[in-house]
Amino acid sequence: SELKDFIGQMPKAKLHMHLEGALEPSLVRLIATRNNLPVPSSIQEQDSGYSFNDLSSFLALYYPNMAVLQTTQDFHDLAWSYLTKAHEQKIVHAEIFFDPQAHTSRGVKFATVISGYHSATIEAQEQFGMSASLIMCFLRDMDAQSAMNTLTEALPYKDKIIGVGLDSDERDNPPSKFATVFARAREEGFLLTMHCDIDQKNSIEHIRQVSEEIGVDRIDHGTNIVENARLLNLVIERGIGLTCCPISNSVVTEDLKGAEIKRLLHDGVKVTINSDDPAYFRGYLNENLEFIGEKLSLTRTDLVQLQRNAFDIAWISHDDKSKYI
Ligand code: HPA
Ligand code: ZN
Repeated sequence: SELKDFIGQMPKAKLHMHLEGALEPSLVRLIATRNNLPVPSSIQEQDSGYSFNDLSSFLALYYPNMAVLQTTQDFHDLAWSYLTKAHEQKIVHAEIFFDPQAHTSRGVKFATVISGYHSATIEAQEQFGMSASLIMCFLRDMDAQSAMNTLTEALPYKDKIIGVGLDSDERDNPPSKFATVFARAREEGFLLTMHCDIDQKNSIEHIRQVSEEIGVDRIDHGTNIVENARLLNLVIERGIGLTCCPISNSVVTEDLKGAEIKRLLHDGVKVTINSDDPAYFRGYLNENLEFIGEKLSLTRTDLVQLQRNAFDIAWISHDDKSKYI
């Protein structure tokens, strides 16, 4: 279709995707087999895709599946399969989350994870001219001490990590739990972002904490901010961007939050469209843009603005931004 072609040919940036969430069933099977591990029970015969309906049932697949990743080669191959796909979709810049604690907690060395992922980003630069940066996420359902230990482990690899984020199960794990860790991360020169998922009953309070207390540079999801004029003004004034993921929203909360995203866009909030966990939600960036473009009858101007926003709030130099804005 015309919409599809228009989206396909636009040079794009993507700012919110979890590398471990790009682990397609076929790759789980391949890596399990070469590591002499049983194929996880969630991987069905025909690789027909994962089945879940909320964040906790998603996480219950996500963590066991990624346990097949053990060697530097495994981490490299996962990142490479994602970056190849991103290049096919005309993504010229990608910022990608990874979850080191999900690997170090099962005995994999931090160095194994980072060297596999990093080498794939270098190859993407060399082969595709595509830039890709890693954002290290802390698992919010683990304690703050574990996050602090992870931050310390990451310091020797500072040049390979652009920023830090916060993901996993948000219930009873508010941003404030990690205030000290994020303050330290900022001192070390990392940029900051945190998930404020849309289906949390405390989501406004969480958005308040990240924007007023922690002082994040971006907010992941955060769409519920439409409910609070004061916080809305604050993110507009400071140019804090939101990274929204419509297909993920529609699976996890049964609502793509389209009306909210459209209003934020038209209010001048730097809102962007992203894929979250593309292998699980079965949609990469173009599919997310097509989905929201169709459902909300977005104009070409809207779609272009969404991608301008992405380059605008990307963690890249002004010179690099100016090529695309
Ligand atoms: N939400 C929260 N944590 C996550 C997600 C998500 O969609 N993907 C990976 N970790
Ligand atoms: Zn996410």
